[in-house]
Formats: sequence, C-alpha cells, structure tokens
Amino acid sequence: MTQQVQQPVRNQDGSIAREASRRRTFAVISHPDAGKSTLTEALALHARVIGTAGATNGKENRKETVSDWMQMEKDRGISISSTALQFAYRDTVINLLDTPGHADFSEDTYRVLSAVDCAVMLVDAAKGLETQTMKLFEVCRQRNLPIITVINKWDRPGLDTLALMDEITERTGLTPVPLTWAVGIAGDFRGVWDLQKNEFVRFTKVNAGASLATAERLSPADALEQEGQAWTDAVDEASLVAETGPFEDMDGFLAGKTTPLLFSSAVQNAGVKHILDTLVDLAPPAGPREDVDGTPRPVDAPFSGFVFKVQAGMNKAHRDHVAFIRVCSGIFERGMVVTHASTGKSFATKYAQQLFGREREVIDEAWPGDVVGLVNASALRVGDSLYTEQAVQYPPIPLFSPEHFQVARSKDPSKFKQFRRGIVQLEHEGIIQVLRSDLRGDQAPVLAAVGPMQFEVVQDRMDHDFSAPMRLEQLSFSLARLTTPEALTALKIVRGVEVLTRSDGELIALFTDVWALRRIERDYPEVELTPIGTSSSLG
Ligand code: G4P
Repeated sequence: MTQQVQQPVRNQDGSIAREASRRRTFAVISHPDAGKSTLTEALALHARVIGTAGATNGKENRKETVSDWMQMEKDRGISISSTALQFAYRDTVINLLDTPGHADFSEDTYRVLSAVDCAVMLVDAAKGLETQTMKLFEVCRQRNLPIITVINKWDRPGLDTLALMDEITERTGLTPVPLTWAVGIAGDFRGVWDLQKNEFVRFTKVNAGASLATAERLSPADALEQEGQAWTDAVDEASLVAETGPFEDMDGFLAGKTTPLLFSSAVQNAGVKHILDTLVDLAPPAGPREDVDGTPRPVDAPFSGFVFKVQAGMNKAHRDHVAFIRVCSGIFERGMVVTHASTGKSFATKYAQQLFGREREVIDEAWPGDVVGLVNASALRVGDSLYTEQAVQYPPIPLFSPEHFQVARSKDPSKFKQFRRGIVQLEHEGIIQVLRSDLRGDQAPVLAAVGPMQFEVVQDRMDHDFSAPMRLEQLSFSLARLTTPEALTALKIVRGVEVLTRSDGELIALFTDVWALRRIERDYPEVELTPIGTSSSLG
C-alpha cells in the first residue's frame, strides 16, 4: 500500500506548551467487529494520510489495513497488536493508538488506554453496547478518560435511535449529548442533522469505502423538502433528547458525566469527518501527567515519558524489539540520552521511530502526547519511566489477574537455551506472565494468561522468532492471588493449590476454582490472599 505520512508542521514559536495543546491522543474502544479497523482507516483517509482505504469486502480478502500487520492477525482477521498512527488534521496532530479487539488481549488494551487522553467508544447500531465495549468502558471510567460515543453501521438495519440513547444512559451512566442525529432509520442512512450548526449533511454513497464520501450541506427547509418524512422523523426524535447549538458541557464531558454522540457508517466514510472535528474541538490536549505520588508534571518540564507497550518481531527482517513511549513532558529528540527511572541507567535513543501500521520512519522529535517507538531498547519494560534532568516515576501499569495457566517445555532439549531466552523475552514484552517454582524447575515454567489466545502468540513467537518449539500442558487452575512467605506452610498442605514465584518476586497462589479459594479463606483466616492487579479484569 502506498501511503504518505503527512508530517505535522512545527508551529512558529515552537513552544512545548503550544505543541502539547495541538495534540489529540486517543484510542478507539469497541467490541470486535463493531468497525474499529474500518474506522481507523476512514479517519486516516479523511486526514488524507493514505490514498485508498482498505476495501472491506471480507476480512480475509481485504487489503491490509494500516493497523494490521502480524501474520496471526491476517490469518484470523483480528487485531492483536497495537500500533500508533499519527497524522495532521486542521491545526492539530492526531495520535490514534490502535487497541486489540479480542478480549484475550485486554491487558494490552488496558496498557494502551493508560497512554491516551480520550477514547472513542464505537457502538454497532444493530447490537448496542456489547460485553467487551462495556468492559473497556469500565476501564476508561477508572482512568477518568473522557469518552466520545459513535454509533456505527447506520447503513445497516439496526436498533432505534432513542432505544440506543436509553441503553447508553442506563448501562454506562453517561448522558449522551448528540452532536449529530441520523436522518433515515438504520439501514437507510441519508445523512445527519448537524445539531451544532443546524444543517442537514447529506452523504452520497461511495464504493466500499475506497474514497472520501461526498457530503453536501442543506438548510433545514431544503432538507424537509428533499427528505420529507425521514427529516421530520429525525427532527421529532432528536428534539426529545437533544438541542441545537454548540456543545456546552465541556466540564461534564471531561469529568466523564456526559458523552458527545455521533452517527457514522465507517465503511462508507459517512460521518467520519465529524468524528475528527469533534476530536479536534472537544478532546483534551496533552496535559500535565501525575507521577506515582500524584504530583502533576507540567508539559513543559524536561523530557519524560513512560513505556506502555513493548513489542518484538514486528519486522521479521530486522528481528527488532520496539518499546512504545508516550511522551508526557518536554521535547523528545532522537539521539538524546535519557535516564531509565527503574535502574538509574542512562541510554541513548539513537533508533527512534514513528510507527505507522507496517510503515515506520525515523522520528527526529516528538512532543507531549506523541508516541515514539524506541527500537532495540531491550532493557525497557512496560510501565518504565524515562526522563531527562528532573527525575520522575509515573505510576506502574497494573498487571491483570491471570485465569489460564499452562506449563511450557522445550520440545527439543538441545534448544533449551533458546527456549529460556524466548520465555524471558516474551515476559519482558508483557505477552505472558511467567511463574516458577523449585519444584517445577527452570525447564517447566508456568505461563499465566488473561485469555487463551495469548498462548498461541507465545507458541508462534517461540517457533518463529526464537527457533525454540515448545509443548504446552494445561493446568486446572483458574484463579490467582498474591500471597506472602508466611502463608507458604499452610498452603503447601492444601490440595488444589500451588504457590509459585512471579519474576518480580511476588508469590502467587493458584486455585482450581473459587471453592478452593473460599475453603482456604475459611480454614486459614490468617493467610493473606490479595486479588491481583485491576479490580475489573477485562478478560
Ligand atoms: P473491528 O476492527 O472492530 O473488529 O471491525 P472491522 O473494522 O474489521 O469491521 C468488522 C466488519 O464490519 C467488517 O466486515 C467491516 O466491513 C464491517 N463494517 C465496519 N464498519 C461498517 C459500517 O459502517 N457499515 C457496515 N455495513 N459494515 C461495517 P467484514 O469482516 O468484511 O465482514 P462482512 O460483514 O462484510 O461479512
């Protein structure tokens, strides 16, 4: 695919605060199949980053989207990895961080959500709020992320507009504030009533999303004349829940009480420009970020950032290892020497890149809100902070509680060294948690995952990147708790429990089921058993 990355233009005075105020860094959250990849394509297309959006006639046949790259993703037609797309739009620089759609990779999604300032919640018009959307919404709420809601696939038969409004209000507690209102029922999408400008925006269908949808603006009187009943119905319905005029509840939006709402058909590129404009006009710019003690670091403080994702094997030819950094303050300049907060060591950032789907290019500077891929920074792990001059430690990104456990063994004893190196590497990337015990030995570590597909990724990477084929054997545990050395004696003698050590030194007790856990809580009340990570597992 030919694509030209439109470089953001540096502003005249070049001040950090001004650059930060131009950044909009966001992620799209949705249940798989709601149209996230299609919307990503369409947004990029609208910003005129790419010439032709992927034709979307069947996932297996469609052209690679800019956000899909791994073989497994292509085979299965799902997005596993996250990538960052950057493009200029109006006077802003948009950073769109892609999140994996599948629930098994929700830990990865959670990490991405720690690096954004806003989320677009994409809802399938026919399905309403689905499980994964709700779980992701919960994470956004925990992180106080403002949410823009988009009802997608309006070109297909779907639910009633007012029923969708009710569902959003009831299930999320957010008050939807429509900025546009669909004209024509789901399945007969004629355009939207732009409530802010009180105009009808009529869409003309385009061929399977291959180019920009044309939109023409009409006055309400012309809309009534040309669309008749469809227009009247839209006005009647919208008047029950929406008002015309500019969006005024910025405080409610930023506080997570209201959600601006739009309608779209990503596949037809209809309503997509409105989404971009809403991001520019309403989404918060990159702002001060709180450190681990809750002290905000201003955007114009010396450079700082944190690693929200580590990924290797993106480029088979180079076998590289990329740490994705969200810049929080200051200017990142390629080649600068930064301090790694957790080790106090310094290292040079010679190989800094901007990742754009499969395309990558050297990046010379980046500003708060931007994402930098540091190539071959193998010392960096998810959650690590980096800085220059004034030290800073950003809050760690919590691990999720694993629910699936398998023992890994090298298939070929002569490749044990590669096997061990591969497991350590994949753990560093945050693809899997690794638990060990003297009893099981180094030959048979226990891999712990939030979702079973993580094991497939490990197996694939061990085969292809480390030439260390392995065997996996399922364990019957389904629950994990943090415990203490004092508890070991008690737990050792109980059936259905095993205690292992995670690489960070924490002791993890595994239980076959909730009954095994309850029994121990009852019989050994002195034993400390603490839930792991976030309280709301997405898995
Ligand atoms: P995801 O990343 O959220 O998983 O979704 P993705 O964009 O891959 O879209 C899932 C399917 O929904 C795709 O169809 C895509 O073409 C379709 N789609 C996305 N947006 C729209 C829309 O606005 N309207 C309509 N009608 N379809 C949309 P597919 O995988 O090719 O399967 P199929 O539905 O064509 O059989």
